Amino acid sequence: MIYVLGSINHDISLELERLPKKGETVSADGCQTGLGGKGANQAVAIARLSGAGEGKKSVKMIGRVGNDAIGAELIARLNAFGVDTEFVRQVNRATGTAIVTVTDKDNRIMTYSGANSGLSKTDVDEALEGATGEDTLLCQLEVPLYVVAYALRKARMLGMTTILNPAPAKSLPDDMFYNVDVIVPNEIEAQELTGIRPNDESSRWEAVQKLHGLGVPYVVITLGDKGAVLSDNGYIRGHIPAYKVAAADTTGAGDTFVGALALTYPHIGMYSFREACAFAARAAALCVMKRGAAESIPTAEEVNRLYVYPIKK
Ligand code: RIB
Repeated sequence: MIYVLGSINHDISLELERLPKKGETVSADGCQTGLGGKGANQAVAIARLSGAGEGKKSVKMIGRVGNDAIGAELIARLNAFGVDTEFVRQVNRATGTAIVTVTDKDNRIMTYSGANSGLSKTDVDEALEGATGEDTLLCQLEVPLYVVAYALRKARMLGMTTILNPAPAKSLPDDMFYNVDVIVPNEIEAQELTGIRPNDESSRWEAVQKLHGLGVPYVVITLGDKGAVLSDNGYIRGHIPAYKVAAADTTGAGDTFVGALALTYPHIGMYSFREACAFAARAAALCVMKRGAAESIPTAEEVNRLYVYPIKK
């Protein structure tokens, strides 16, 4: 079982020709609302890519939404995607909200944490009560940092595999890294954590080495349309190129990559770390081709089809 501890947001996504200047109003060309939040998107990616259905769930979400119609609707969407929501609580706060602007395929995201900010150690204790060393914990940073640190520590004590997507970018206490098996930052997050801007080959490897030095054995830095670099303890290093696709909206692509990796990583005895990252890159490429966050995440079947018929620019 994979446990995802993280945010659940109501995304309001506006498609704009350009962003407004100060004091200006611009009309959007399109508007889409739906399930988002880095935690929820990653849980949906795991469910979709593992072929989960009502009867067969491989991912449990640990999170909070508001005690309102939107909160209930987001829980229903998670369930419909095949995510187990036993540990998603509805509380007396507004549901987390994200305003996403999409201009020329690039996105900018503003979030209001709302119910996400109330996630507690008790939520973690309740959810991980039945967890074992066979299970995985996946976290991001859109819920309180002390709860993420606590969950990683607890998961480590239980012998679980731990994966951290340190998004959005935040500096982290050094002792947090010891409890992480796999870290997956993007370029901005890697710079925040290491002080190194990973914008060419040598700076990327320098940043990777620094993350290994902090105690993380597996490092993947995602590079958007330049793919990703990966390193297994510095012994096996590689670069995964991004698939060239007709991009519609990059929202949720990073989350799709992370969810896909969380699904395949525990099996890298059977597949290589590189193969796991390549699968994640294919899934992320398909996500970019559709508008929206959770709604644009592909199934394993769609990813496998891309593998057979790679899309070229
Ligand atoms: O990573 C994309 C997500 O970031 C969006 O769905 C939004 O909710 C924010 O959390």
